[in-house]
Amino acid sequence: MLSGGSFTESNKIEVTPCSVLMSPPRMIGQVLSAPRIGEEETIRGWIYRTRSSGAIIFAVVRDSSGIIQVTIKKGNLPEEQFEAAKAAAIESSVIVTGKVQEDKRAPGGFELRASIFTVVGTADPFPITEYQSEELLLDNRHLWIRSREQTALMKVKASILEGAREWLKRNEFTEVTPPILTTNACEGGVTLFKLKYFDREAYLSQSAQMYLEALIFSLDRVYSLTPSFRAEKSRTTRHLTEYWHLELEEAWVDNAGNMEIQENLVSAMVQKALQDRSEELKLLGRDPEALKEVLPPFKRLRYSQVIDSLRSQGFEISYGCDLGAVEERTLTASETLPVFVTNFPRACKAFYMKDDPDDSDTVKCADLLAPEGYGEIIGGSERETDLGKLKARLEAQNIPLDAYQWYLDLRRFGSVPHSGFGLGVERIVRWVCKLEHIRDAVPFPRTVARVYP
Ligand code: 4AD
Ligand code: MG
Repeated sequence: MLSGGSFTESNKIEVTPCSVLMSPPRMIGQVLSAPRIGEEETIRGWIYRTRSSGAIIFAVVRDSSGIIQVTIKKGNLPEEQFEAAKAAAIESSVIVTGKVQEDKRAPGGFELRASIFTVVGTADPFPITEYQSEELLLDNRHLWIRSREQTALMKVKASILEGAREWLKRNEFTEVTPPILTTNACEGGVTLFKLKYFDREAYLSQSAQMYLEALIFSLDRVYSLTPSFRAEKSRTTRHLTEYWHLELEEAWVDNAGNMEIQENLVSAMVQKALQDRSEELKLLGRDPEALKEVLPPFKRLRYSQVIDSLRSQGFEISYGCDLGAVEERTLTASETLPVFVTNFPRACKAFYMKDDPDDSDTVKCADLLAPEGYGEIIGGSERETDLGKLKARLEAQNIPLDAYQWYLDLRRFGSVPHSGFGLGVERIVRWVCKLEHIRDAVPFPRTVARVYP
């Protein structure tokens, strides 16, 4: 039996633990961190490196927790197993039983002396060798994700998301599941992926925001983690066409409160990665110490201040233009904490952002920029609640109101002040892991140039 459930007298469901999960052989990481010298252990994994000299084979085996050296000596195990081990190429899957012995030269300081060596799945010659072009690695992404760097990255990403979920639970946000197929362009028509939806046109979602806005009326504080799609034609190091989007929406919260939520959430995500994955961070070239100070509060700069500062550094940027990658890089290059930029001019932001009554042509919004030049990781704002203003802005942009009637209804039935934001998960991973390119923050990147594998 794999797993099951039964009712106890108190009518509570008790789920019996899955036997496969409960009694596997120890993971390599456990064998190395708590070695039982002289005792037999069984491990299973994939051959990471192998070399043989006559009657002895040294195979390094990896699993998700680490790598261990296995020594296979002729005579210590059945002949056919020795021959199979000798023939096994890298990436063959294996199960090995052997005694644990100390060996200072082995990775982790211990090795396994094999008495049983079973090749479960043989491997063809592996197409990836030491020095490979970026293109070949991307063509073989389904195999390259087995590398130690990619493994470390995926673990850090998982911890970052775990940190978010923990924080969101502590702060009473409810996770919701908005649609991906939509008829609304939340972030403008330019980056929409259009598709034929039977006899109509629909789009892949750019943002769950409008649906989250509908959900706060019953749940107050909500969040979703979904793919978002942007038909970004530009080849940059920070744009994907499909990315993971963590979005929050909060009733009764203004733009200032929204920023407090952002700095606390981002800090919790970074601190979780630091706490659980400092070894992986080091492997990726990120000094974990540098992330320790990522705690609230973050600096707040107004857009107008930013423009003044950029101009004084020689940028020819006119008031009213959105900040590009170069401007964001310059602005954050020597920062060690993320920085908010608030109060963008209305002209460069989306229709749903609320006017700032204290600063007439700006909106109550904030972009959060990661330090060290990484740039925007969050876009957020307080939402316009005035039905007339929303309609006028949609009309001014020649957007047909039909598809937005449901959204406008949210202002007709008990509208409340509310705010929200969207965080690009691969953007935060790129910063935390010090990645050159955002595509390494996702196992199967989608960019203008690539949808395979
Ligand atoms: O700033 P954006 O476009 O804001 C929105 O979509 C809002 N509707 C979110 C909301 O309020 N619920 O996107 C939010 C974030 C950006 O700050 C960035 O981190 C990420 O999504 N992002 C991308 N990440 C990777 N590749 C792309 N092409 C991205 N476009 C946006
Ligand atoms: Mg943005």
